[in-house]
Amino acid sequence: GKYRVVSTKPMPGTRWINLLIEQDCRVEICTQKKTILSVEDIIALIGDKCDGVIGQLTEDWGETLFSALSRAGGKAFSNMAVGYNNVDVDAANKYGVAVGNTPGVLTETTAELAASLSLTAARRIVEADEFMRAGLYDGWLPNLFVGNLLKGQTVGVIGAGRIGSAYARMMVEGFKMNLIYYDLYQATRLEKHVQLVYCINLLAPHFADTCMFHVPAYGQFLKANGEQPVTWKRASSMEEVLREADVISLHPILDKTTYHLVNKDSLAIMKKEAVLINCSRGPVIDEVALVEHLKQNPMFRVGLDVFEDEPYMKPGLADLKNAVVVPHIASASKWTREGMATLAALNVLGKIKGYPVWSNPNQVEPFLNENAPPPA
Ligand code: GLV
Ligand code: GLV
Repeated sequence: GKYRVVSTKPMPGTRWINLLIEQDCRVEICTQKKTILSVEDIIALIGDKCDGVIGQLTEDWGETLFSALSRAGGKAFSNMAVGYNNVDVDAANKYGVAVGNTPGVLTETTAELAASLSLTAARRIVEADEFMRAGLYDGWLPNLFVGNLLKGQTVGVIGAGRIGSAYARMMVEGFKMNLIYYDLYQATRLEKHVQLVYCINLLAPHFADTCMFHVPAYGQFLKANGEQPVTWKRASSMEEVLREADVISLHPILDKTTYHLVNKDSLAIMKKEAVLINCSRGPVIDEVALVEHLKQNPMFRVGLDVFEDEPYMKPGLADLKNAVVVPHIASASKWTREGMATLAALNVLGKIKGYPVWSNPNQVEPFLNENAPPPA
């Protein structure tokens, strides 16, 4: 291979490796045992000659690494992640290194985890599972692990970008929840989708009377119960979402405007029995304030995929029954992880070969959605 490409971690699948090898690259994969590589570890990997690096969200890609990569002749870096708060894009620009990320392939997988956590928290699945395994189940009881019904409740989405919108569609379509969202930009496609769900719900009872197929069982049910179709609105402030929603899922990017977006004050205005989900970045929530709030409000439940000081949890969190915690696995489906690896390889390859980088975070705006104005 004419070009040397380094991956700081083994990644799933072989497609990404083959793509690089077929295009004159020699691929070096770091197999060091430690999970999180330090800046020094990565400098050693880069060495004297390196054309591009595929890195991970656990690594601090700042001034030091971009200058080292540029000295080694490197032109490209790709994060194997959609989030890039670990990357100093200005420093990359300064050293002439193009930066890529991997949006798109993880949208549905991540939204599905947010949906899973919503249900798991609302229906107390983890507590119930622990109870069962501990041999405590000694017969059905009317008040055993009573949780929240999602149907007819309001789902609140903060940050209606690709992932936030996909999650909103799942909850509205799948569970007939009403939607309220907050985003800097109007999520027109999401609103149209919800409008369609509204129309179907509205028409279903009529089909129940006239349609000769048996689609209509659901329509009959709606009609018999005098149910309302779903509603939707774009909130004028984040506080409006926090106050009104029963289930709230956070999908902003992490930057200085979203750091501790959920803090003591915002928790205080949320419903006492609300469910809060975070599959974005840990520091979006003030985790110490959250632990305190969970202690004070046993009916308030959270589902967390990310933490403020990953891999650690703030003291007390692990002991709380009203918290469901998983280790940053929102994008962890086989299809998605192979897709992310492939996109990361294509980003680096594209730059080395002089094609446009597939995805450049310079062009991503906070709370990005399809109606965001083009970057300046
Ligand atoms: C994972 O957290 C990602 O940003 O892709
Ligand atoms: C990321 O994919 C987002 O815009 O939500």
